[in-house]
Amino acid sequence: MRILAIESSCDETAAAVVEDGETVLSSVVASQMDTHGKYGGVVPELASREHLRAIVPVVREALLRAGATLPALDAIAATVGPGLVGSLLVGLTYAKSLCFATGLPLIAVNHIEGHIHAVILEARRAGTPVELPALALVVSGGHTHLFEVRPDFSYRLLGKTRDDAAGEAFDKVAKLLGFSYPGGPVIDQLASFGNPQAVRFTFAKMKGNPLDFSFSGLKTAVLRWVEARPMAAEIESRRALRRSVPHPTPAEWLAVTPRPTLDLLASFQQAVITELLTRAAASAERIQARSLIVSGGVACNRGLRAAARSARLPYPVHFPSPALSTDNAAMIAAAAFPKLRRREFASLEIAAQAHLTLA
Ligand code: KG4
Ligand code: ZN
Repeated sequence: MRILAIESSCDETAAAVVEDGETVLSSVVASQMDTHGKYGGVVPELASREHLRAIVPVVREALLRAGATLPALDAIAATVGPGLVGSLLVGLTYAKSLCFATGLPLIAVNHIEGHIHAVILEARRAGTPVELPALALVVSGGHTHLFEVRPDFSYRLLGKTRDDAAGEAFDKVAKLLGFSYPGGPVIDQLASFGNPQAVRFTFAKMKGNPLDFSFSGLKTAVLRWVEARPMAAEIESRRALRRSVPHPTPAEWLAVTPRPTLDLLASFQQAVITELLTRAAASAERIQARSLIVSGGVACNRGLRAAARSARLPYPVHFPSPALSTDNAAMIAAAAFPKLRRREFASLEIAAQAHLTLA
């Protein structure tokens, strides 16, 4: 069974054709990084405009690469939320119109469920299926959530961020220091040149749910560290680099980033990783998880992957490949597959839901 899936919840226009929920026949992603990079974050109005520009060629390319035609498909899936409403609308409306024209059923997918299924898809293909119940840590620019994934693919929310998402913390710290957007990949590259023990960050004890996260205090601590030092010239030299080179290499960033700042980056990244893994391990223990899934853009982080490996947890830890960590449509098709089997179709009246929750 073949599903064409469309994803447009944030700043990536993506389409993919996936067979039987596991064979990726094509996965096309048009990134808007160059559009938003100079603003240090996603500009919603620009995002919807770029989606409008990209949606038709991206879907056509996905069909072409898969060697598929619309009548040969079994369903069309689209992300309905959460995300930027103007962005979601473009992909969802296009999916609806394709369904209307072809008579194919529409499957509505939650973006977060997509991130979880990216890992389930790859693990199945690798011959090491994710054992359920699993604990899923979804960490991206918009989400930091801990879910129990039950054997029937129903979900229970165990913890979430009370303020910034982990990826957002990376992006904000990078912006504050003059690096480019998105901040996660740059900090990831430079952190390995600093000492993660150099700057001590303390976390306030959380009231209420001990499995919730908070990253705004960490961001403020970085701001205080910067304010306490004469850093204006250094930050300006990175902004100048960004203006002169669209995508600076790690060596170019290193040339304008002195040792204390590298130590700050390494310590910041280490603090985020410790927060993420401590809460994930506690949640996994609470539900007696048989595996741990880490997904979303921040799952690309090399420090996080290394820390998860060396933590020697008593269950397997599954990370997606980098291509399926950040936003893509193959994960939306994978999440749609169990719904296709259950014939869980959406009405063509369904609306985009910016604040859709998974559980
Ligand atoms: O999943 P994603 O592509 O989009 C959202 O749904 O948000 O995640 C993007 C986020 C950004 O905040 C970006 O800085 C972060 O993932 N990210 C990383 C890394 N690569 C991307 N964070 C830390 N380390 C990385 N290597
Ligand atoms: Zn995402």
